[in-house]
Amino acid sequence: MSNSSQKIPIIIDCDPGQDDALMLFLALNAPELDVRGVVACGGNVPLARTELNCRILVEMAGRLDVPVFAGCDGPMVEQLFTAEYLHGETGIDGIDFFEPTIKKRDQHGVDFIIETLRAADVDEITLVPTGPLTNIAMALRKAPDILPKIKQIVLMGGASFEGGNVTPSAEFNIYVDPHAADVVMRCGRPIVMFGLDVTHQVMTDPQLVADIRSLDNKVAHASAGMLDFFGQYDAAKYSAEGGPLHDPCTIAWLLEPSIFDLKPCHVAIETTSKLTRGHTAVDFWGVTENTPNVEWAFKANKQRFFALLIERLAQY
Ligand code: RIB
Ligand code: CA
Repeated sequence: MSNSSQKIPIIIDCDPGQDDALMLFLALNAPELDVRGVVACGGNVPLARTELNCRILVEMAGRLDVPVFAGCDGPMVEQLFTAEYLHGETGIDGIDFFEPTIKKRDQHGVDFIIETLRAADVDEITLVPTGPLTNIAMALRKAPDILPKIKQIVLMGGASFEGGNVTPSAEFNIYVDPHAADVVMRCGRPIVMFGLDVTHQVMTDPQLVADIRSLDNKVAHASAGMLDFFGQYDAAKYSAEGGPLHDPCTIAWLLEPSIFDLKPCHVAIETTSKLTRGHTAVDFWGVTENTPNVEWAFKANKQRFFALLIERLAQY
């Protein structure tokens, strides 16, 4: 799946989250992208906060033209599990809070996804989910006719050799809503998947945060403040100097795909076991007869990734 030279029309679905915030900043000033809308889901923090955070971040990026919607407040079957322990009570701790002027759209985020896809051409719209996959799965369940309109789903989630970050078996986004992830994995549309195996290759560090802060614009200062906070928990957990920049990998791939190495793999989701709920069974070595349903990202060029991030944040 490569990108055309025209603007790539995308819908972002996310749960800010400091790393979702950096993903939004990377997307919202990219001339290559046509961001049709941002949909919030319950995830890192409850929906009321992720929806507010989306409006704060879209406004901070100066994109009052991009509509923000609230989607589902929790998983399809499981109870919502949130991560204030990592992201703080607001979900974007580290930013100077302000009440945004952008108002939440009345339309439900799932209905926005459906409406936008129904109005699109075949193979036109890229979906970029970086939180639990509830809204994407609910749109596919409610309106299966939208499937041919999805060009690709470029998502952050899952883990293979790296192990989980919420349980030994599961990564957060998939753990929170394994049933939604199962629906998406089986949907038959092209999927590009950035799991912990690759996001743990793009760990922040104090020098990077200082370089971002030295860009000396509002978005850069907000990014540095959030990364200072975001790195604390994971730095201790992984004995590292910072945290993994999970969600921006999706947009970085759209902007500069050669930063990453991908491999076609079959990925299945554990939805029944209590012990391994949300496990992504990534058939990296092709040991099953299953046809690959995902392009699995397994390698990142860290230097080029952060160079892209700095280059784009500097343009705010
Ligand atoms: O496991 C990392 C993922 O969970 C990221 O998307 C982070 O924002 C959280 O949603
Ligand atoms: Ca996220």
